[in-house]
Amino acid sequence: MFDFDRVIERRGTHASKWDNMARLSGITAPDAIAMWVADMDFAAPPGVTEALSAEVGRGTHGYYADTGSWAAALADWMARRHGVKVDPATVSPTPGIVAGLGLILQAVSAPGDEVVVFPPAYHAFRKIIVANGRRILDAQLVEQQGRYAMDLDALRDLLTPKTKVVFFCSPHNPGGTVWSAAEIRALAAFCAEHDLILVSDEIHCDLVFDGAKHTPTLSAAPEIADRLITCVAATKTFNLAGAHVGACIVTNPDLKRRLDARIAASGLGSYNLFGMVATEAAWRTGEAWLDALLPYLKKNRDLFDARIEAAAPGARSMRLDATYLAWVNFAGTGVSAKDVASRVADGARIYASPGPQFGPGGDTWLRFNFATPRPLLEEALGRLEEAFAGVRGGK
Ligand SMILES: Cc1ncc(COP(=O)(O)O)c(C=O)c1O
Repeated sequence: MFDFDRVIERRGTHASKWDNMARLSGITAPDAIAMWVADMDFAAPPGVTEALSAEVGRGTHGYYADTGSWAAALADWMARRHGVKVDPATVSPTPGIVAGLGLILQAVSAPGDEVVVFPPAYHAFRKIIVANGRRILDAQLVEQQGRYAMDLDALRDLLTPKTKVVFFCSPHNPGGTVWSAAEIRALAAFCAEHDLILVSDEIHCDLVFDGAKHTPTLSAAPEIADRLITCVAATKTFNLAGAHVGACIVTNPDLKRRLDARIAASGLGSYNLFGMVATEAAWRTGEAWLDALLPYLKKNRDLFDARIEAAAPGARSMRLDATYLAWVNFAGTGVSAKDVASRVADGARIYASPGPQFGPGGDTWLRFNFATPRPLLEEALGRLEEAFAGVRGGK
């Protein structure tokens, strides 16, 4: 019903993933494969294309009137897929999640304040903190039985009176960790104990593989709802990153007023028509597409993990319970990080996200986006096999 195998030529279409690749990576080969930024090479759900086509067909594209249907569609989706009740009145749209994070920082902290992140962590967290004149407080994740875990005792020792906010990524990027309700509750209690605002970025919540279940922080720890801001979006789930729309869910009216004041101060209280149309249509019509996508991604994950670990003996791909971003540690290959980078970029002509972007703990890692049609994934894996030929593994 949905043809995820279809290879769509994205070069020359203003697709950042493909058209910014040479500039950002220095890989200029015409057949280079983009496996970096988190967008997928699949067509969006047909209902989204139809809604956008209808909009285009009308030919009038004036200011968007928010009648409440967008937040209602989000609330329906969260109830149906995640069993959590979201009051549409608690939803503030923002022009993407990262923009929302910046506005949140401005609303709840002051320049010089510290924001906790759990590295290796999504690189834009680091950038938006620094760009807003706040400071990063790294709470290093530890690997336990092949997955990441938070060390809150270690974090306790690092807190200062300036520590005000926690950026929590659930599920985690990179590493694909689906946090248990107990882990989320422990973090929530920690935030209450130390008077911290908890920002739960759940943009990857729909991209969870079977066997794992995403628990919204709002469900796991309703007792700290007053200090919680949840960020969600349709853009990652349905491959609409260019729509640039996200949502902040804030149940504390005072906190919501503060955030909305920053949104108003930045002139962002009027929303992008095309983004709103696309994302509402996705929530309303995209479920069958998503249900078909997840097994496809899971097969890509299994294929990628098996072949990268065989191609580069000693490499280890973290077992992802969520996301389509394979997180691979090459430390055990015996090949230096520089040589690994060159084999991938120059040998295989593949741009993967460099591990150091994700902060401390990422040095020997690369992140590969496998959300691409299988023929292209096969091509990439074949090239990686050639690029690592002769590597025996071991330090
Ligand atoms: C954890 C996380 N948050 C936010 C984003 C980006 O959100 P947006 O494009 O809405 O700013 C990403 C994209 O990869 C992400 O991984």
